[in-house]
Amino acid sequence: MDLKIPKHVAIIMDGNGRWAKEKGKIRLEGHRQGAINLEKIIEHSVKIGVKYLTVYAFSTENWKRPEKEVNGLMELFAKYLDTKKKSLKKQGIRLLVTGTKENISEKLLKKIEETEKYLEDCEKMIFNIAFNYGGRKEIIDAINKIIKDKKETVDEKEFARYLYRPEIPDPELVIRTSGEFRISNFLLWEIAYSEFYVTDVYWPDFTPEEYDKAILAFNKRDRRYGGLNVK
Ligand code: FPP
Repeated sequence: MDLKIPKHVAIIMDGNGRWAKEKGKIRLEGHRQGAINLEKIIEHSVKIGVKYLTVYAFSTENWKRPEKEVNGLMELFAKYLDTKKKSLKKQGIRLLVTGTKENISEKLLKKIEETEKYLEDCEKMIFNIAFNYGGRKEIIDAINKIIKDKKETVDEKEFARYLYRPEIPDPELVIRTSGEFRISNFLLWEIAYSEFYVTDVYWPDFTPEEYDKAILAFNKRDRRYGGLNVK
């Protein structure tokens, strides 16, 4: 069977905390294992021909978590950028970080900028990390940019150009791990016509085989974009 591979896959990496709890470990250990798992999923994305992979690593709502967990996630992300950039370069993967800069330390912002720059020539796949990201915030930020530009009206196409990453096409497939049927403020504008796939598997246990199941399910969907699929 000739499989259709979604050009852009977006993943809500949920269940790190539950994974850790079931193993009697602290929550941060779940996030660490989640970061390790990401490697396999990035590799598999390139292997099957995905061109854009977006992952939800930290939401604008995640600041409400205990300080220790928030700091741990910040450190994990900084360490991730430091330790993975060479391997991303080797694989030809360009990294983008998408979200608001608000509340992020100068040091981390500088690291993000440097890492993006280091990988800017890579062309095999764009790996987009949604970090300090909120869908509503992205829309409000776009509206404020439009007001600043003194536009009286905009259409959908023009509006989309004011979002954080206008160069990235909308995701065709959104995957959420650990069984919740929620969108959690993720890519609200961009997912208007995305297919949604939910698996019970916790993110640290989401293997390439589980990923393939999502791709297979995507292939079985009848995508009509609001129209009729008359054959
Ligand atoms: C949701 O699981 C996960 C997060 C809020 C963080 C996701 C972060 C990673 C996978 C870390 C790696 C990413 C990078 C780029 C370094 P949860 O904690 O809400 O799980 P729970 O619902 O079981 O409590």
